[in-house]
Amino acid sequence: MKRIAVIASGRGSNFQVLIDAIRAGSIPAVCAALITDNPGAYAIERARGAGIPVMVADYNSFPDKEAYEARLLEAMQECGADLFVLAGYMRILGPGIVREFSGRLINIHPALLPAFPGLHAQRQALDYGVKVAGCTVHFVDDGVDSGPVIIQCCVPVLEGDDEATLAERILAEEHVILPEAVRLFCEDLLRIEGRKVFIISDNAV
Ligand code: GAR
Repeated sequence: MKRIAVIASGRGSNFQVLIDAIRAGSIPAVCAALITDNPGAYAIERARGAGIPVMVADYNSFPDKEAYEARLLEAMQECGADLFVLAGYMRILGPGIVREFSGRLINIHPALLPAFPGLHAQRQALDYGVKVAGCTVHFVDDGVDSGPVIIQCCVPVLEGDDEATLAERILAEEHVILPEAVRLFCEDLLRIEGRKVFIISDNAV
């Protein structure tokens, strides 16, 4: 049974989906911790509701990013997780952390990468005028939303969409592909080769 830890900055709906999938037995894992940079994150309530330990590294209480990341790294090491899931973590991880947990760190992003990395991905998609948007789960490397892609899902952009309606349509698919990617990781069904992630057939093992 794998140990996973979730790192989130806000609402935590993706975190909740993982909690529910673990509880339902569809992900063979235990959730060892929620780590957050935001003491006001609603994700904390979700963790408490599920009896999951919470580690808060309040970004604003550190003198600089380096000091914050040193504490974050410590928290990540302490919880001893096999997999760290960035689920609505709104900062860029420094190279030290990315290196330490390489191949064990995944992120959900609300765009079809490599299009629209960084913040406000849904707004970027609307401003660009694309007809198809979506979401991506990927391994984290030292770029911004640039690591090897595990799963993607697309949704239509409809006339009349605003950021909220598009974000909601994308979020519904995030809630499908994130638990699926975590399940595949926890069942040792992912293999990274360079930029590519191969999904080993469930039947082959
Ligand atoms: C999700 O849409 C996630 O993809 C996005 O933040 C939202 C968090 O929602 N993440 C990013 O934009 C990361 N750059 P949640 O807190 O309800 O899971």
